[in-house]
Amino acid sequence: MSVVTIFAPAKLNLFLAVTGRRTDGFHDLISVVAPLDFGDTLRAEPAEGFSLACDDPDVPCDETNLVLRAAAVFALAAGAAAGTTNASDRSTAAKFFLEKRVPMGAGLGGGSSDAVAALRALNLLSGDRLGPAALAAAAAQLGSDCPLFLQDGPVVVRGRGERVEPLPAPVAGRLRGRRVLLFKPAFGISTPWAYARLAALAGGSAAGGVYLPPVEAEARLAAWLGEAGAPAETLLFNNMEPPAFAKFLALPTLLEELRARFGLAARMSGSGSACFALLGDDAPVGAITDAIRAAWGDSALVVAARLEWSRPG
Ligand code: C5P
Repeated sequence: MSVVTIFAPAKLNLFLAVTGRRTDGFHDLISVVAPLDFGDTLRAEPAEGFSLACDDPDVPCDETNLVLRAAAVFALAAGAAAGTTNASDRSTAAKFFLEKRVPMGAGLGGGSSDAVAALRALNLLSGDRLGPAALAAAAAQLGSDCPLFLQDGPVVVRGRGERVEPLPAPVAGRLRGRRVLLFKPAFGISTPWAYARLAALAGGSAAGGVYLPPVEAEARLAAWLGEAGAPAETLLFNNMEPPAFAKFLALPTLLEELRARFGLAARMSGSGSACFALLGDDAPVGAITDAIRAAWGDSALVVAARLEWSRPG
């Protein structure tokens, strides 16, 4: 195999319940996450060492990029699997080119998805050196949002993100093909900042109600899963919204307007700053886009997409 091209989808958290802070500083969460037909594309070809180029000049292409961090993790894991500790094993080295479409600091999982695309690309180029368990371990090492991207379909995520379970096929079928409008203001939100704000709120005087207790989160999720035909609209939830909304007032202001004017089910995705609205077949996308641009200006990103994936069922 000489060149591989991997689609790295963005994701939406349709349901995101942060249930509490752990002793390791991370947070436990229960989330339903679905991939989109909108994403980045990563090309990889065998080379002497690892390198990365990108069509977006704002994307750092040094070793801070998750693609190259994934490559380093892969090389170590593949070396271990082959019984060597040679991290620069040539058979796993590659030159990457990233077509970047998913903005950074959006809560759309762009960097995490790129990292998993790099793991997949290197595994293909090396003739499947890593099995599913080793790939999952490598993904978990790279970031909390990485393991879910190994699934090629909608999932329930637990723990800090490493416990991933595919949604049952009939439930996934309720989501597949759903139209969504993504919109992101010019500013991004840093994930560590968002979790730190959440933890600060939980430690403050208004501590009650910041985290959703795990029993309640599981009950909400089970009720939605168990209700035949329940639409995506009734699943939407994100308790990372309050700390983000308290600082970035442009987010709740616009979401309220979209609910009031167009009756839309709309939320922030993950730790933000991207938001999304579920669209019915007759949704006035032009008027909704105009409202977003009127509120956030022309620098806002607005993308029409669908919940979509390659897993059968
Ligand atoms: O795992 P990742 O590198 O994406 O996490 C970035 C930061 O977000 C962590 O350092 C932590 O502060 C926060 N985080 C968290 N709980 C999670 C995921 C992320 O507190 N489940």
